[in-house]
Amino acid sequence: MNHAATTRTPLVCSAEDYTAFKQFLCKTSGIELGNGKEYLVVSRLNGLMRQYGLANMKELLTKLTTGHNPGLKADVIDAMTTNETFWFRDAPHFRLLTAKIFPEASHQRFRIWSAACSSGQEPYSISMQAHDYRIRNPGKLRDVEIISTDISASILNEARRGVYSALSASRGLDDKQRSRYFTPHPEGYEVKPEIKKQIHFQEFNLTRDFASLGRFDVIFCRNVLIYFPPAVKQDIIQRMSRVLRPGGYLFLGSTESMPAGLDAFEMVTEQGGIIYRVKGQ
Ligand SMILES: C[S@@+](CC[C@H](N)C(=O)[O-])C[C@H]1O[C@@H](n2cnc3c(N)ncnc32)[C@H](O)[C@@H]1O
Repeated sequence: MNHAATTRTPLVCSAEDYTAFKQFLCKTSGIELGNGKEYLVVSRLNGLMRQYGLANMKELLTKLTTGHNPGLKADVIDAMTTNETFWFRDAPHFRLLTAKIFPEASHQRFRIWSAACSSGQEPYSISMQAHDYRIRNPGKLRDVEIISTDISASILNEARRGVYSALSASRGLDDKQRSRYFTPHPEGYEVKPEIKKQIHFQEFNLTRDFASLGRFDVIFCRNVLIYFPPAVKQDIIQRMSRVLRPGGYLFLGSTESMPAGLDAFEMVTEQGGIIYRVKGQ
């Protein structure tokens, strides 16, 4: 046992530390903490402070803002992300894929970006939907590539592994879907290889330039922009419109909306859901 861990004083986050930490987090990840969330910083960072042998927030902030500490920075951002997700989240979105978007796919390689994929339920659900569509429509949608990115390295490792506890594998899936897409695993269930093989996982920060990712037919950017300030959200959506092919689609979370003043998209309402189609075709 780490002796220091047993004797250290509880982590405290003063108003001044909180302001400095908020600035660091927003600048590096886009994530904006609201007022009065000092308790969240303390609870999320306690373990890391111990792991890195840091005594207080001032020491942490000094390390984060001066010198080269990429591992610590990544771990802090990782600790501050919220990774809530589940299978086939927002059912109308998946109906839209099958009823509208897949039938429109005309070219060989169909590229989908799951832009904040968390532990993988979103891209695997997309892959399952595409797999079923191909079975029902032989010869169609033969080459699908799902690029799945997240800022958090640890959550991406979970996603890449594709192994879920019985509890996670029950959130949004029924017995039939579980036996169709998973094999039993000592820890619960593992996603089948034919569902995994269409997906490429990659660490990526949405505040960075998208050029290296290529162009997409569809982007899922759901339940992540809510953590960013309006200007960052607007900038990300604007840049997404430029990496979508003409007529491509953007999915936002069901409680999110397109910022006013962004005219690159038109809203499409179908199957009980809303998606945004990039203009230009
Ligand atoms: C609530 S989850 C959403 C998961 C999934 N899209 C869904 O709707 O179920 C939000 C994810 O956004 C990721 N995230 C936060 N800031 C990010 C950033 N700047 N770049 C990329 N991913 C980020 C977090 O790590 C987290 O996994």
